[in-house]
Parts: sequence; structure tokens; C-alpha cells
Amino acid sequence: MNKTARAHTNIALIKYWGKADSKNKLPLMSSLSMTLDQFFTDTRITVSEKNEFFLNGVLQAGKNYQRVFTYLKILQKKFGVSDNLRVESTNHVPTAAGLASSSSAFAAMAGAFCACYNIQLSKRDLSKIARLGSGSASRSIYGGFAIWQKGFDHDSSYAYALDETPVMDLHLLAIELNSNPKKLSSTDGMLQAQTSPFFIPWIKRNEQELSAMVAAIKAQDFSALGQLAELNANEMHAINLTANPGFSYFEPDTIHAIHLVQQLRASGIECYYTIDAGPNVKILAQLKNVKEIIKQFLSEFENVKIVNASFGPGLSYLDQ
Ligand code: PMV
Repeated sequence: MNKTARAHTNIALIKYWGKADSKNKLPLMSSLSMTLDQFFTDTRITVSEKNEFFLNGVLQAGKNYQRVFTYLKILQKKFGVSDNLRVESTNHVPTAAGLASSSSAFAAMAGAFCACYNIQLSKRDLSKIARLGSGSASRSIYGGFAIWQKGFDHDSSYAYALDETPVMDLHLLAIELNSNPKKLSSTDGMLQAQTSPFFIPWIKRNEQELSAMVAAIKAQDFSALGQLAELNANEMHAINLTANPGFSYFEPDTIHAIHLVQQLRASGIECYYTIDAGPNVKILAQLKNVKEIIKQFLSEFENVKIVNASFGPGLSYLDQ
């Protein structure tokens, strides 16, 4: 078959930030995300003479190559195959991005692996094997809103669709303030975060936060969704600050952007932020306010790039 698999990036509104088992990438909490239309990865895998990984047409070595083939070897072992593979991935991330993401990368990789070997899997099983590449990839198998239930072993830890085609008026403005590589990988950040005295209390709140978010989505209540997402992101970053040693992904511009969101809100333009393992900020907004928010960000920041995204689809295969 050797079809090209396409998966879209997702952004967590209730975040995954801690592993119970790093080998199987089992999380300490359940998470909930929005899949985005603007950012995706296309990947094709074919049996070949040697193992090669091309990203955006460029042959990769070192860390990138290692991560991909460590993952593919796990899948090969699982499915009892052992060929050399040629992997071709293209990241479709508009120049205004800051969203290079392992979620779309490993969801597309899992899909392409199955296509290469003609392995038919349910979405649930695809989600489990995507998770072995990167936790957040488990959610990119689905469009719209997805929930990754933490589970307790490989078979019980997978994502499912909450609503693959939501009608909710929800936009995510990806604001690229800084394109430097991450200071700390999410794996290392998650490990260090667990030394915070607030880590366990945060985990204890997970079920309550998740069900409040599900209720907000079901009621299409933008204010509740935004408040919950912002609080959850602040909790994650507060845990990082209070770890031992403490750390932060924030840059001065991150704080500046947070203040701008607070000012916009005070002036009646409702919007909320969420932030992942990097300095860039994502703004949640309704369509009526998108233009004004973009205008304000462009006037406050010099080299800012902004992409207006909304709901994207789940894993698909491209026609040859
Ligand atoms: O899937 P990973 O290992 O890249 O971790 C993702 C971590 C966050 O993006 C910060 C949160 C999340 O749930 O996506």
C-alpha cells in the first residue's frame, strides 16, 4: 500500500505533564485536546535497502534519526517484522508557526507504519501505538476534541473522540514570539516537574478539571472552556517554577503576551491563553474577536507571527 498518512497537531486544553511509566509513555493524568486544521505532518514509509529518515526532504542523522528508528523498532518488534525502512515526513507548518509538534509527527508515523505493512487497526489501537512515539500523539488520531484516558497499562491508555466535528465557535491563535529550540525537552521537563510540592495536589485535581472541561464543551460555553484551559496551563507552569530545581519555559515576551491577554479581557475582548513546553502563547478566542486580537498583538510585538487555526480532522490517508 505505502500510502501517505496525514495527522494534525493538537493542543491540550487539559495537559499531560507527567509520566507514570516512561517506557510505555503512560501518563499520570488524563488529558483533553483540540486538533488543529492549520498544522499537520505527512509521512510515508516504505521497505528499503537501509534505514533512512527524511524530514522536509532533508536526510536526518543524530537525535532525530534515533528517535524515529527507536520508535519504529518498537513497532516492528510488536508486529513481528524487521525490514529496513525509508521514512519521508513533511511538516506542514505555516511559516508563522512555533508549533513544531511531536503530536502530528508520531500519529502520522504510526499511520504510515500500518499502511506500509498493511496492518489494519482500530482507531483505539492506532492511538495506543501513536502514544508509544509521543504521548500527545495518541490524541492526534482524532479530529475535533479528543480525550486521552490515562489508563494503567498499554491496553488501557488510549485516546478517544469526544466530538470529532464540533460546531463550537472556537479559534486558536498560535502566536510565535520566539523560535529558539526548547530549553528542556518535554520528557525532562515532566521528570523535573514531579519534584514540585504542588505536583501531587495537581494530579489529584485532574479528574475534576477534566469533567469540568467536558461539561464546558458539551454546553459550548466558551468562557468556561477558556477559564479552565488557562488555569490548567498556569498550574502546569507553576509546577515547573516550584520544582527542585525550578525552571520555566517562559521568556520575557511570554509574560508580555499574558499581560496583553489580561488587558484585552479587561477591555471586553474575551480571550484566554494556553502555553506548552516552550515560550510561545496560544490564544483561545471566538470568531468575532479574532481580528481585533491579531491587530493588538501585531501592534505590541515587533516580529510576531500569528496563525488563526480552528478544528482539524483526525488521521487520514492521501490518495496516491
Ligand atoms: O507528547 P509530548 O511528550 O511532546 O508532551 C506534550 C506535553 C504538552 O504539550 C506540554 C502537553 C500536552 O498534553 O500536549
